[in-house]
Amino acid sequence: MFFLKLSLLTFLMAVLMGMLTYAENVITCYGSDQRLSCESGLIRVKSAIYGRTDSTVCSVGRPASETQNTQCSMNVSLISDMCNGRSVCEFKTDTLGLPDPCYGTYKYFNTTYDCVTGRSIVSCEGSYISLDCGGSVVNVLLAKYGRTDSTTCSTGRPVSEITKTDCYVTNSLATVKTICEGKSSCTLSATNDVFYDPCVGTYKYLSMTYTCVAKETSVTCEGNTAVLTCDSGVLNILSANYGRTDSITCSAGRPNNEVTNTHCFANNTLSVVKNSCGGKSKCAVSATNNVFTDPCVGTYKYLTVVYSCIY
Ligand SMILES: *[C@@H]1O[C@H](CO)[C@@H](O)[C@H](O)[C@H]1NC(C)=O
Ligand SMILES: *[C@@H]1O[C@H](CO)[C@@H](O)[C@H](O)[C@H]1NC(C)=O
Ligand SMILES: *[C@@H]1O[C@H](CO)[C@@H](O)[C@H](O)[C@H]1NC(C)=O
Repeated sequence: MFFLKLSLLTFLMAVLMGMLTYAENVITCYGSDQRLSCESGLIRVKSAIYGRTDSTVCSVGRPASETQNTQCSMNVSLISDMCNGRSVCEFKTDTLGLPDPCYGTYKYFNTTYDCVTGRSIVSCEGSYISLDCGGSVVNVLLAKYGRTDSTTCSTGRPVSEITKTDCYVTNSLATVKTICEGKSSCTLSATNDVFYDPCVGTYKYLSMTYTCVAKETSVTCEGNTAVLTCDSGVLNILSANYGRTDSITCSAGRPNNEVTNTHCFANNTLSVVKNSCGGKSKCAVSATNNVFTDPCVGTYKYLTVVYSCIY
């Protein structure tokens, strides 16, 4: 009973904090319309596959020869480009102009997405946006620089500058993440210098969605193992050091000479921890010289990792 109450409470807290993520999976037989929608939040496509990996789905009325090949799949990045950041996205699957990944097989579209909650902002070309997460850090969810509709950032613009609505920089998200991800604040300029010009003559804008996520610190004394976990999202390692930078941490019962050197850093810590933990929901790293080499012989060390859980 006690545990039941406790887990219900945890569940409610997670709901209140908007931390539960639901992934929806939509299968659409070739030729039908696919519709993705979020009641609250915005669409983020996790995978979009065109082909056939299952023999029963979309098989009604089809000859066996068209449904028995289940080794056919192709990633369709076009769907995330089209739908990410919208609340509803509907399109005809036979007008996407895709190549045929397996001729003679009747195919379907298998799209998995979730609805992310965050702040959405738009900055018209030539403007700057500053994000400030205070004591937390920025987690960029979506970003697109270009123009995908004719109304956003259109005031006073000649028609010729706003009619092209299929123009955007495909790696916008990576660029914005480089500038803002994991920072407590950042400034972005919606300019061709930062991205590039995907459509000369069109007036563009940067639209993005982000959330602020907590920064966590894990401290593990030498000889023990750090276990990092994310209840939702995956680990993003912000900084890490194996060594000693103060004389108090992990000092209980230690002779003075083992805790006085407070300028001890293993310079490979961040890369080692990123390699074993980055992008995972859980990981374990031993705070030992074997893992990091010994940056200060004779000093009793500890592993400090600062991280956040991101989407
Ligand atoms: C759809 O894609 C998901 C994710 O890749 C996969 O787990 C699932 O089996 C696929 N479903 C079908 C019917 O192909
Ligand atoms: C499709 O995308 C998934 C992950 O999104 C990746 O693991 C896989 O290698 C990709 N397949 C192809 C053929 O690009
Ligand atoms: C770490 O320090 C060692 C020795 O001081 C040096 O040789 C090495 O290049 C450094 N590595 C990095 C990634 O800074």
